[in-house]
Amino acid sequence: MTGIHIHPSILSADFARLADEIARVQNSDAIHVDVMDNHFVPNLTMGTPVVQAIRAATDKPLDIHLMIEDADRWAPDYADLGAESVTFHVEASKAPIRLARELRARGTKASMALKPATPIEPYMDMLTELDMILLMTVEPGFGGQSFLDVVLPKIRRARQAIEDAGVPIALQVDGGVAPDTIERAAEAGADVFVAGSAVYSADDPAKAIDELRTLARNAQH
Ligand code: DX5
Ligand code: ZN
Repeated sequence: MTGIHIHPSILSADFARLADEIARVQNSDAIHVDVMDNHFVPNLTMGTPVVQAIRAATDKPLDIHLMIEDADRWAPDYADLGAESVTFHVEASKAPIRLARELRARGTKASMALKPATPIEPYMDMLTELDMILLMTVEPGFGGQSFLDVVLPKIRRARQAIEDAGVPIALQVDGGVAPDTIERAAEAGADVFVAGSAVYSADDPAKAIDELRTLARNAQH
Protein backbone atom coordinates (compact mmCIF):
# COMPACT_ATOMS: atom_id res chain seq x y z
CA MET A 1 0.00 0.00 0.00
CA THR A 2 1.26 3.45 -0.84
CA GLY A 3 1.25 6.56 1.33
CA ILE A 4 -1.73 8.77 1.97
CA HIS A 5 -2.05 11.91 -0.14
CA ILE A 6 -4.40 14.78 0.67
CA HIS A 7 -5.34 17.14 -2.17
CA PRO A 8 -7.44 20.14 -1.12
CA SER A 9 -9.88 21.30 -3.80
CA ILE A 10 -9.80 25.03 -4.41
CA LEU A 11 -13.39 24.81 -5.66
CA SER A 12 -14.29 25.59 -2.04
CA ALA A 13 -11.71 28.40 -1.72
CA ASP A 14 -12.21 32.13 -2.27
CA PHE A 15 -11.70 32.51 -6.05
CA ALA A 16 -10.72 36.16 -5.65
CA ARG A 17 -7.75 35.18 -3.46
CA LEU A 18 -6.55 31.89 -4.94
CA ALA A 19 -2.84 32.41 -4.29
CA ASP A 20 -3.50 33.17 -0.60
CA GLU A 21 -5.88 30.24 -0.31
CA ILE A 22 -3.26 27.88 -1.74
CA ALA A 23 -0.67 29.27 0.69
CA ARG A 24 -2.93 28.19 3.56
CA VAL A 25 -2.58 24.50 2.62
CA GLN A 26 1.21 24.13 2.39
CA ASN A 27 1.03 20.75 4.16
CA SER A 28 -1.06 19.29 1.31
CA ASP A 29 0.44 16.90 -1.23
CA ALA A 30 -0.99 18.71 -4.27
CA ILE A 31 -3.64 21.26 -5.16
CA HIS A 32 -6.78 19.85 -6.79
CA VAL A 33 -8.07 22.16 -9.52
CA ASP A 34 -11.63 21.56 -10.79
CA VAL A 35 -12.13 22.66 -14.39
CA MET A 36 -15.82 22.67 -15.39
CA ASP A 37 -17.23 23.67 -18.76
CA ASN A 38 -20.99 23.96 -18.05
CA HIS A 39 -21.60 21.12 -20.52
CA PHE A 40 -20.12 17.96 -19.02
CA VAL A 41 -21.38 19.25 -15.66
CA PRO A 42 -23.94 21.99 -14.90
CA ASN A 43 -21.33 24.38 -13.50
CA LEU A 44 -18.58 26.61 -14.86
CA THR A 45 -15.28 27.34 -13.15
CA MET A 46 -12.10 28.13 -15.07
CA GLY A 47 -10.02 27.34 -18.13
CA THR A 48 -6.38 27.44 -19.17
CA PRO A 49 -5.71 31.16 -18.40
CA VAL A 50 -6.64 30.79 -14.74
CA VAL A 51 -4.85 27.44 -14.39
CA GLN A 52 -1.77 29.08 -15.90
CA ALA A 53 -2.00 31.88 -13.33
CA ILE A 54 -2.32 29.33 -10.51
CA ARG A 55 0.73 27.46 -11.89
CA ALA A 56 2.73 30.67 -11.68
CA ALA A 57 1.51 31.44 -8.16
CA THR A 58 2.60 28.26 -6.38
CA ASP A 59 5.29 25.58 -6.38
CA LYS A 60 2.81 22.92 -5.24
CA PRO A 61 2.03 20.12 -7.69
CA LEU A 62 -1.25 20.72 -9.53
CA ASP A 63 -3.80 17.91 -9.81
CA ILE A 64 -6.07 19.06 -12.63
CA HIS A 65 -9.55 17.48 -12.68
CA LEU A 66 -11.18 18.15 -16.02
CA MET A 67 -14.98 17.96 -15.99
CA ILE A 68 -15.24 18.97 -19.63
CA GLU A 69 -16.58 17.50 -22.84
CA ASP A 70 -14.27 16.56 -25.70
CA ALA A 71 -11.41 15.72 -23.34
CA ASP A 72 -9.38 14.30 -26.23
CA ARG A 73 -9.20 17.78 -27.74
CA TRP A 74 -8.58 19.87 -24.61
CA ALA A 75 -6.79 17.79 -21.95
CA PRO A 76 -3.33 17.97 -23.59
CA ASP A 77 -3.39 21.77 -23.26
CA TYR A 78 -3.47 21.36 -19.46
CA ALA A 79 -0.52 18.96 -19.55
CA ASP A 80 1.44 21.64 -21.39
CA LEU A 81 0.82 24.09 -18.50
CA GLY A 82 3.03 22.02 -16.21
CA ALA A 83 0.47 20.06 -14.23
CA GLU A 84 1.65 17.12 -12.13
CA SER A 85 -1.37 15.14 -13.28
CA VAL A 86 -4.27 15.66 -15.65
CA THR A 87 -7.49 13.75 -15.02
CA PHE A 88 -10.03 13.35 -17.82
CA HIS A 89 -13.45 11.73 -17.51
CA VAL A 90 -13.81 8.49 -19.43
CA GLU A 91 -17.40 9.49 -20.21
CA ALA A 92 -16.00 12.50 -22.12
CA SER A 93 -13.26 10.72 -24.07
CA LYS A 94 -13.66 8.88 -27.35
CA ALA A 95 -10.17 7.35 -27.19
CA PRO A 96 -9.01 7.08 -23.55
CA ILE A 97 -5.90 5.00 -24.27
CA ARG A 98 -4.72 7.40 -26.95
CA LEU A 99 -5.41 10.35 -24.65
CA ALA A 100 -3.58 8.78 -21.69
CA ARG A 101 -0.55 8.19 -23.92
CA GLU A 102 -0.73 11.75 -25.21
CA LEU A 103 -0.74 13.13 -21.66
CA ARG A 104 2.26 11.03 -20.64
CA ALA A 105 4.08 12.06 -23.81
CA ARG A 106 3.62 15.68 -22.73
CA GLY A 107 5.26 14.96 -19.39
CA THR A 108 2.30 14.74 -17.05
CA LYS A 109 0.75 11.85 -15.14
CA ALA A 110 -2.30 10.43 -16.93
CA SER A 111 -5.40 9.98 -14.82
CA MET A 112 -8.90 8.81 -15.70
CA ALA A 113 -12.07 9.63 -13.75
CA LEU A 114 -15.29 7.66 -13.48
CA LYS A 115 -18.61 9.08 -12.36
CA PRO A 116 -20.35 7.14 -9.56
CA ALA A 117 -22.49 5.02 -11.91
CA THR A 118 -19.74 4.28 -14.45
CA PRO A 119 -18.39 0.73 -14.02
CA ILE A 120 -14.66 0.12 -13.77
CA GLU A 121 -14.77 -3.35 -15.34
CA PRO A 122 -14.60 -2.26 -19.03
CA TYR A 123 -11.30 -0.46 -18.25
CA MET A 124 -9.52 -3.13 -16.21
CA ASP A 125 -7.19 -4.05 -19.07
CA MET A 126 -6.00 -0.48 -19.64
CA LEU A 127 -4.95 0.32 -16.06
CA THR A 128 -1.25 0.16 -16.96
CA GLU A 129 -1.82 3.12 -19.31
CA LEU A 130 -2.69 5.22 -16.26
CA ASP A 131 -0.87 6.76 -13.30
CA MET A 132 -4.06 7.41 -11.34
CA ILE A 133 -7.73 6.47 -11.33
CA LEU A 134 -10.27 8.90 -9.87
CA LEU A 135 -13.47 7.37 -8.57
CA MET A 136 -16.03 10.12 -8.01
CA THR A 137 -17.87 9.71 -4.73
CA VAL A 138 -20.45 12.38 -5.65
CA GLU A 139 -21.98 13.32 -8.99
CA PRO A 140 -19.42 15.81 -10.35
CA GLY A 141 -20.28 19.49 -10.55
CA PHE A 142 -20.44 20.93 -7.07
CA GLY A 143 -18.64 20.93 -3.76
CA GLY A 144 -20.32 20.24 -0.45
CA GLN A 145 -22.30 17.14 -1.49
CA SER A 146 -22.66 13.98 0.59
CA PHE A 147 -20.27 11.05 0.10
CA LEU A 148 -21.90 8.20 -1.86
CA ASP A 149 -21.33 4.94 -0.02
CA VAL A 150 -22.56 3.02 -3.08
CA VAL A 151 -19.11 3.68 -4.64
CA LEU A 152 -17.25 1.76 -1.89
CA PRO A 153 -17.47 -1.66 -3.62
CA LYS A 154 -16.03 -0.11 -6.80
CA ILE A 155 -13.13 1.31 -4.77
CA ARG A 156 -12.45 -2.20 -3.44
CA ARG A 157 -12.58 -3.74 -6.93
CA ALA A 158 -10.31 -1.03 -8.34
CA ARG A 159 -7.77 -1.56 -5.54
CA GLN A 160 -7.76 -5.28 -6.22
CA ALA A 161 -7.29 -4.69 -9.96
CA ILE A 162 -4.38 -2.32 -9.28
CA GLU A 163 -2.73 -4.91 -7.06
CA ASP A 164 -3.30 -7.57 -9.71
CA ALA A 165 -1.76 -5.30 -12.37
CA GLY A 166 1.33 -4.95 -10.18
CA VAL A 167 1.99 -1.33 -11.11
CA PRO A 168 1.89 1.70 -8.80
CA ILE A 169 -1.39 3.35 -9.85
CA ALA A 170 -2.82 5.86 -7.39
CA LEU A 171 -6.50 5.53 -6.46
CA GLN A 172 -8.15 8.87 -5.83
CA VAL A 173 -11.57 9.61 -4.40
CA ASP A 174 -13.30 12.97 -4.81
CA GLY A 175 -16.54 14.18 -3.31
CA GLY A 176 -17.83 14.30 0.23
CA VAL A 177 -14.47 13.34 1.73
CA ALA A 178 -14.55 14.53 5.35
CA PRO A 179 -13.58 13.28 8.82
CA ASP A 180 -16.70 11.11 8.98
CA THR A 181 -16.18 9.44 5.56
CA ILE A 182 -12.44 9.29 4.84
CA GLU A 183 -11.88 6.16 6.93
CA ARG A 184 -14.35 4.13 4.85
CA ALA A 185 -12.70 5.25 1.62
CA ALA A 186 -9.21 4.47 2.93
CA GLU A 187 -10.28 1.08 4.26
CA ALA A 188 -11.72 0.27 0.81
CA GLY A 189 -8.35 1.06 -0.79
CA ALA A 190 -8.21 4.72 -1.80
CA ASP A 191 -4.88 6.45 -1.20
CA VAL A 192 -5.39 9.94 -2.68
CA PHE A 193 -8.13 12.03 -1.12
CA VAL A 194 -9.62 15.22 -2.52
CA ALA A 195 -11.32 17.41 0.06
CA GLY A 196 -12.93 20.75 -0.72
CA SER A 197 -15.40 21.90 1.89
CA ALA A 198 -13.84 19.74 4.64
CA VAL A 199 -10.61 21.72 4.25
CA TYR A 200 -11.73 25.21 3.28
CA SER A 201 -14.72 25.47 5.60
CA ALA A 202 -12.44 24.66 8.55
CA ASP A 203 -11.10 27.52 10.68
CA ASP A 204 -7.61 26.09 10.16
CA PRO A 205 -7.37 24.34 6.75
CA ALA A 206 -3.85 23.01 7.44
CA LYS A 207 -5.02 21.41 10.67
CA ALA A 208 -7.99 19.88 8.82
CA ILE A 209 -5.55 18.32 6.34
CA ASP A 210 -3.44 16.82 9.13
CA GLU A 211 -6.54 15.37 10.76
CA LEU A 212 -7.77 13.83 7.51
CA ARG A 213 -4.32 12.35 6.87
CA THR A 214 -4.18 10.75 10.33
CA LEU A 215 -7.66 9.26 9.99
CA ALA A 216 -6.85 7.81 6.55
CA ARG A 217 -3.49 6.40 7.69
CA ASN A 218 -5.05 4.65 10.65
CA ALA A 219 -7.85 3.18 8.50
CA GLN A 220 -5.57 1.93 5.72
CA HIS A 221 -4.72 -1.77 5.74
C1 DX5 B 1 -16.91 18.08 -7.49
C2 DX5 B 1 -15.42 18.34 -7.55
C3 DX5 B 1 -14.75 18.17 -6.25
C4 DX5 B 1 -15.23 19.10 -5.17
C5 DX5 B 1 -15.28 18.31 -3.92
O1 DX5 B 1 -17.42 17.86 -8.75
O2 DX5 B 1 -14.80 17.49 -8.48
O3 DX5 B 1 -13.35 18.24 -6.37
O4 DX5 B 1 -14.41 20.21 -4.96
O5 DX5 B 1 -15.83 19.09 -2.91
P1 DX5 B 1 -16.22 18.45 -1.51
O6 DX5 B 1 -14.97 17.91 -0.89
O7 DX5 B 1 -16.80 19.60 -0.77
O8 DX5 B 1 -17.23 17.35 -1.80
ZN1 ZN C 1 -12.58 17.36 -8.38
